[in-house]
Amino acid sequence: MFTKSQIDAEKLNPDSLFFKNALVPTREESTLLSLLDNLGKLPAGFSGELFVPLLTHANPKIRMLAVKNVGKLKDDRFLEELSQFAANEKNTLARREAISAIGRMRSEKAIPTLTYYLTDTDPKVVLQSVRALLYFKEKPEVQTALDSLLEHPNELIREHLASEIERKKSGRRTSKKDLQHPMSPDALKNVIIHADVQESLKIIPDESIHLTFTSPPYYNARDYTIYQSYVAYLDFLTTVFKETHRITKEGRFFVLNTSPVIVPRISRAHSSKRYAIPYDIHPRLTDIGWEFIDDIVWTKPDYAAKNRNGGFFQHRKPLGYKANSVTESVMVYRKKTDKLIDWNIRQYDDETIAASRVMGDYEKTNLWHINPATDKVHPAIFPPELASRVIQFYSFKGDLVFDPFGGSGTVGHIALTHDRYFLLCEKEAEYIERAKQLLDVALFAHAKPRVLSLTKLESELAERNQNL
Ligand SMILES: C[S@@+](CC[C@H](N)C(=O)[O-])C[C@H]1O[C@@H](n2cnc3c(N)ncnc32)[C@H](O)[C@@H]1O
Repeated sequence: MFTKSQIDAEKLNPDSLFFKNALVPTREESTLLSLLDNLGKLPAGFSGELFVPLLTHANPKIRMLAVKNVGKLKDDRFLEELSQFAANEKNTLARREAISAIGRMRSEKAIPTLTYYLTDTDPKVVLQSVRALLYFKEKPEVQTALDSLLEHPNELIREHLASEIERKKSGRRTSKKDLQHPMSPDALKNVIIHADVQESLKIIPDESIHLTFTSPPYYNARDYTIYQSYVAYLDFLTTVFKETHRITKEGRFFVLNTSPVIVPRISRAHSSKRYAIPYDIHPRLTDIGWEFIDDIVWTKPDYAAKNRNGGFFQHRKPLGYKANSVTESVMVYRKKTDKLIDWNIRQYDDETIAASRVMGDYEKTNLWHINPATDKVHPAIFPPELASRVIQFYSFKGDLVFDPFGGSGTVGHIALTHDRYFLLCEKEAEYIERAKQLLDVALFAHAKPRVLSLTKLESELAERNQNL
C-alpha cells in the first residue's frame, strides 16, 4: 500500500517509474484502488496511457476510478478509449463518468460521440451528453441535435433544456441580485385578513411572500366546514395553493401539514372512510409548479393517538388490524425555478444571513418528535415547536411568512418570535379573537396585529400602488 505523501512526491518527479510499475492490472486490487483513489490532481504530462488497461479491469470500482482519472487529463487523445468504454460498460454511473470525461475535453472532435449518446437509453448518459454539448451550443448542428430532445420522455432532460432556453432568452448565465427579493409590501405585514381565503388571495400581489406554513381544514372530519365531496375539497385546496404559488417569491418554500383523516361511519352496518389527503394533494401541488423537496414526519407520543385498536385487541383476527396514527405529514415544496437555493440565499445581505443562521442543536432526520398542543378555543392548533422549526429552517429574518388557514395564529406568533413578519387569513371571528389575544402580548407591543377586512386591505394596497 502506498501513502498519500509518497504518491504526491512521485507525482512531482517526471522521471519516476513509480506509476508505470504501480498502475498495472495484475497488482493487488486493494493497492490499485487506494492508489487510483489518492492520485488527486494530475500534473501536466502525466502518462494517461497507464489508465487505459485498467478501463477493462474485472473490478468495477477500479474501472470507475480509471475513468475518473482519465477525465482529469482533459485530453482528446483518449476519446476513442472512453467512447469504447461507454459502449461496453454495464455500470450506469461509470458510463456517465465516461461521458463526463469526454465532455471535459471541450474538444470539437468529441461532438459526434456526444451527439451519438444523446440517443442512449439511460437518461443519466443523455443528460451528461447534453451538458457537454451545451459548451458548443453556438454550432448549428449541436443546436439541432439538442432541439430534437425538447420533447424527450425524461423530465430532467426536458427541464435542463428548457432552463437553458430560458437563460438564453434572459441573456444572462447567472442572475444578478434581485433587490426586491427580501422585501414585502408593508400593507401585508402583521395582518390577519378576516375573510374567506379564496377571496383574500385574489387581492394579494404576485411574489409578495417568502414562506407559507399551513395546515388546512381536515375535509369533513373535524371542523364545521362542510365540503360537498372529497373532490370538491381537493379542488378547493388546489385553488388556494395555486394562488399561494402565485404570491410566493421565486424559489421560496411552501410547507404543508396534513394527515389522512377518517370520516366516521354512519351506522354499525357501514364502515368508516379513510382519506389519504397528503397523497391525494401531492400530485396536484406538483402540477401547479411546487417542486417536492422533503417529506418530514411529525411524530406524536402514543397517548396522542385516537385508539382504533379496541376490536382487534380483543379478537386478534387478521384483516381487522387498525394502526393508531401517531404521525402527520409535513411536506416541503419549493416554487419551481432553474435557480439554485444558493441564489435565494445570495439575495440577502451578509448581516441578515448571519442573523438568520440556525444555531445550536437541531433535528437532523426527517422524523420530528413533537408533542401536540391544545388550545381552549381552537380545536387543532400547531405546536409552537413545529412552527418554530419550519420558520427557522425555511425563512430569513425580516421575511413575510404566510398562513392561509391562520386559525389561532400560531404561525403569526412564532414568526414574530423569530423576527419575521406574518400574514394570516382566517374566516372565523372566534379564532381571530383568539389569535389577537395571543399576538397582542406585551412582548410584541411593537408589532400589534392588524385585523383587516378585504375592502380595507384592498384600499391599503391600492394606496401603496399610487405611492410607488
Ligand atoms: C387546521 S386549522 C389551522 C390552525 C392553525 N394552524 C393554528 O395553529 O391555530 C384550519 C383553519 O382554517 C380555517 N378555514 C377553513 N376554511 C377556510 C376558508 N375558506 N377561508 C379562511 N379560513 C378557513 C378554519 O376556520 C381553521 O381555523
